[in-house]
Amino acid sequence: MNSIKHVAIIMDGNGRWGTKHKKSRNLGHKEGLKTVEKVIKATIKNKIKYLTLYAFSTENWKRPKKEINFLFNLLETFLKSKISDLNKQKIKLKIIGKKRFPKKINSLLYKSEKDTFKNKKLQINLALNYGSKSELAYSFNQIIKNKKKANEKNISKYLFTQNIPDPDLLIRTGDTQRLSNFLLWQIAYSEIFFEKKLWPDFNEKDYYKIIKKYKNIKRNFGNI
Ligand code: IPE
Ligand code: IPE
Ligand code: MG
Repeated sequence: MNSIKHVAIIMDGNGRWGTKHKKSRNLGHKEGLKTVEKVIKATIKNKIKYLTLYAFSTENWKRPKKEINFLFNLLETFLKSKISDLNKQKIKLKIIGKKRFPKKINSLLYKSEKDTFKNKKLQINLALNYGSKSELAYSFNQIIKNKKKANEKNISKYLFTQNIPDPDLLIRTGDTQRLSNFLLWQIAYSEIFFEKKLWPDFNEKDYYKIIKKYKNIKRNFGNI
């Protein structure tokens, strides 16, 4: 049976959930946060050490300002009210993506990272203003700057995910089969699960089902 160290999730389908329920897209985002909490709990229960959540992509800036503002307000409220709880649960929070936000959001993110830095139970990598292509370009530039060789080891070393094992599995909810600029380098050998359910409808049972399937996959890594 395969072990799991790292699960990565593209949490897609919030907007459609809101519309489907004849409410706003933003209500879907709010509802999606409940799934985040459920999935964190289930991840700890399964003794998984890393959970990477795609929350906002470099392309998501194209959305209406009203939706973007709502998302960042939601993030702010969430962190302010939950960070001490995350800390108690021994969760370490790391932001992957460029911290180019309004000052109050940036400071909150830095503070949340600092406050939880020593925790070892579960590391949550929150992908915010994250884009895999920009991350790779950043890594290559660091290599040039430091006059290093552009080999696999060095490329990985300068990514935001440095020192984090590559995801064993990637889940995308929302019935869409694409990667949307997420962890392109890191998922070279991940097992990929596309889930029909919209993110707010995704639950522990669905998550366990995927984990169970994953555990029984024959992973070859090129071998036979
Ligand atoms: C994913 O849900 C969350 C973010 C991108 C912030 P969407 O907002 O993309 O939901 P759909 O895909 O439009 O339903
Ligand atoms: C991917 O979802 C980004 C996040 C879940 C944060 P999108 O909804 O932005 O992806 P596309 O644009 O439909 O590919
Ligand atoms: Mg979407």
